[in-house]
Parts: sequence; C-alpha cells; structure tokens
Amino acid sequence: MKELLAKYDVPVPRYTSYPTVPAWDQNLETAQWLEHIRHSLENENASWSMYFHVPFCESLCTFCGCNNIITKNHKLEDPYVEHLLKEWSLYLEAVPDLGRRRLRHLHLGGGTPTFLSESNLDKLFSQMFKNIIRDDNWEASIEVDPRRTTKEQLAVLKKFGFNRISLGVQDFDPEVQRLVNRHQPFEITKGISDAARGLGFDSVNFDLIYGLAKQTPESMQKTAEQTIALKPDRIALYSFALVPWIKPAQRLFKDEDLPKSEEKRRLYEIAREAFLAAGYIEIGMDHFALPTDGLAKAMREGGLHRNFMGYTDQRTELLLALGVSGISETPESFHQNEKVLPKYEQLLDSGKVPTLKGHVHTETDRRRRAQILKFVTEFEVELEEGQIADVDQFLAEMVKDGLAVRDGRTLKITEEGKPFLRNACAFFDERLREMKPQSQIFSKSI
Ligand SMILES: C[S@@+](CC[C@H](N)C(=O)[O-])C[C@H]1O[C@@H](n2cnc3c(N)ncnc32)[C@H](O)[C@@H]1O
Ligand code: SF4
Repeated sequence: MKELLAKYDVPVPRYTSYPTVPAWDQNLETAQWLEHIRHSLENENASWSMYFHVPFCESLCTFCGCNNIITKNHKLEDPYVEHLLKEWSLYLEAVPDLGRRRLRHLHLGGGTPTFLSESNLDKLFSQMFKNIIRDDNWEASIEVDPRRTTKEQLAVLKKFGFNRISLGVQDFDPEVQRLVNRHQPFEITKGISDAARGLGFDSVNFDLIYGLAKQTPESMQKTAEQTIALKPDRIALYSFALVPWIKPAQRLFKDEDLPKSEEKRRLYEIAREAFLAAGYIEIGMDHFALPTDGLAKAMREGGLHRNFMGYTDQRTELLLALGVSGISETPESFHQNEKVLPKYEQLLDSGKVPTLKGHVHTETDRRRRAQILKFVTEFEVELEEGQIADVDQFLAEMVKDGLAVRDGRTLKITEEGKPFLRNACAFFDERLREMKPQSQIFSKSI
C-alpha cells in the first residue's frame, strides 16, 4: 500500500462533474443558458431539480472548502432571501415551463442554510411554492449545522415537505474539533438528529471527514462508533481536501498534525470496517447507507447518479441552482452564478440572471461525462474503440499494479483499485491531459 500511495496520491479532480470547473470553456452567455433550460424541459414528462445556496456561516471551521461568507450579521438574511426570490422570478418569466414541470428534488446547501431564521425560511418557501408543481415522490433535503439549528426551524422545513436532512458532524473528538474550530458536543448532534426523526424526516445523513488534524486510528474508531450509535441512514465520509492556496485558513494546520497518505487511508479503512460491520453498504467512493435507504436501493438497481452535490438517487435533466456561486447543469451545459455577493445582488437588481461563467459541452464531453458517471457508480465501463490502445498506454501502471483491468472493451476497477478510482477516472479526462501541468488546482487523490 505504501508504494501504491507514493505513486498515486497525487493531485487529481474529485469528478463530481465532467468537465471539471477549471477546464470549462467559459463560452456560455445567459441567453444561451436560458435556451438550454428550455430544451431540458421541452418534454412534458420532464422533471427537474433545484438547489439553493445560502453562503453564510457564523464561524469558520478551518478545514472548510465550501463557498461561504463568515458573519454574525443576520441583517444580511432579508436582502438575501429577496434576491433568491428575485432570481426565481427572473427564471420563471424567461422559462414558464419551470412552473409547469414537476420538481423532483430540492436541496438547500451552503454555507449554513439554517443561518436563515424560521420566518425567512417560511417566507422563501411560501413564495416559491406558489408557482411550483411538486412531484408526488419528491425529495427535499437540507444541510444543517447542528450547532446553529433549532427544532422550530426543522418544523418549518417539515411543513414545506422537507423529508431528508444532512448533519455536519465531521468528527466527534473534542481535540480534533478544537483544532478545526468547531466545538460540537455529541449531545448537540444527537439532539438535532433525534428532533429530525421525531418530526418525521425520512432520512438522516451525517457528514464526516477523514484526514483532519490530529485524527488517530483510535479517535476515528470512536467517531465511527458514536456515529453508529445514532444510526444515520446515510454517511458521507469525505477525504479532507487540502487546498490552502484557495482556502488560506487551512494554513493554520501544522503539517505534522495532518495524517497523510498511508495514515490517512487507514483512517478511512477504520471507519469503513466499523460501518460495514454495523450493516451499512459502501456506495461508490465515499458514501455509506443502510440497506433500506434510497442510495443503497439505487446502487442495487443501477439507478445511482453523481452530481455536484455527490451521490444521489435522483436524476433529472435539469439542476437549477439559485444563490451566490450556485452551479447548475443541463445535458448541454454547466452554468455558475456570480461568486461575489454584492455583484450577485447588483446583477439581480438590474434584472439580469447572475451568470458568472459556464461551459457548453462538446459531443466528446458528453460521452466522457457518461463514462465517468458509470465508472464512479458501477466501477466498470464500456470503452470506445479508440480508447482501447489509450488504456494500454495511459493506464498501463494501474493495470500492472492490479488496480484496474481491461477485459475486452470493459474497463474495471479492482477492489484494491477502489481507493484510486479518482486516478483511474483521470484516464477519461482528455481535457486534464491537455491542460498545462499545474500542481495547485486539485486536492490529492487520497
Ligand atoms: C456546506 S457544509 C455542511 C453544512 C454546515 N455548514 C455544516 O458544516 O454543518 C458541507 C460539507 O462539506 C464537507 N467539507 C467541507 N470542507 C471540506 C474539505 N476541505 N474537505 C472535505 N470535505 C469538506 C463537510 O463534511 C461539510 O459537512
Ligand atoms: S463546514 Fe459548514 S459551518 Fe463550517 S465553515 Fe464550512 S460551511 Fe460553514
């Protein structure tokens, strides 16, 4: 393992999407973007997904790689909600089918969406839902920070049909929490998890991270046990993405405190073994689910999907993201909103969709995107005729090391190769190969 890590623990994209954001062609104008949304909803049976980004957090967790704004100023809430509603009304006006096609999945993420007060959550959804048709089997999910969530907020969300909740836990160990500036006693997490269940949320997810400062095999084992004790339906176990050139607060970690390569992978294995022993099923690269959960069912039945938010069992043609920095997708393109809050708000004030940048997929992008998606959800994929010789050239090392095999036209990742799935995905990423080698774009693969 040590030798494999020395070879393959290199910067590589996470492949939640393809092409990756640094490889976007930047050629998408707002008018074309609106046209792509219209296309995606042409069929009257089409359904769609929606994402709201709420960037605010009251304090900074120093590991954090999310698009957030750290503030305790709750006066920012009202204008932000107004702008989200304004953005929605611009889209509805430009694409009336948004009000006619069924919304299948709504996700509220951040930052910390529960930064918004009960009354602002109420206002946002009561206005929004005036013009939205929900699918009978719709799912609505929210990411909450248990330290900043109240039962009253959960009750408001339940009233609007929210049925899934994801709790940011990261690690239960007090020393690790201190080093990442996130004091979150077990009882707080338990309280919100119990409250969500009591209110009838169908599914509770916990986010954990491995590779944080001062995590040890013992602390990881304990965090896994404490997680299992609360029996979340799903667990996301993310690899700590160390990108200090983008997130300067990560420079606060002492290099010697951060588990690396072999040590870091061991932490994943410890948690993985504990979750499997407790009856969880491993989903793709970094998720676990109880066999009764939708993700586990989707994996069994071949309906697993991955998008900007990670693994999901909800697949729609359109994912429309509202809010500062939100990333949307249609089969034809990706679109990202302005990332700077005052600019995002100014664009909306002047009646414009707040486009920052985008990417129009080429025919090859679409085929590569489909291949990567299949590879990260099913661990094997059909190669195109022209790729066979390329496998023998670009994946020769991984094949020699027993991490990947080619069986005729099928490329498979082996059990030993699963930790290096991201490296194998890079084979399909012709754009990465064409980009100038730059070490500081992506976090390392492990
Ligand atoms: C928007 S946050 C979750 C909601 C809420 N803000 C909270 O922290 O509880 C989304 C998740 O991304 C993960 N995350 C953030 N920064 C990360 C990093 N640098 N590496 C890996 N995962 C990270 C964390 O697990 C976090 O729960
Ligand atoms: S982990 Fe969550 S609460 Fe912490 S800074 Fe990131 S988004 Fe905010």
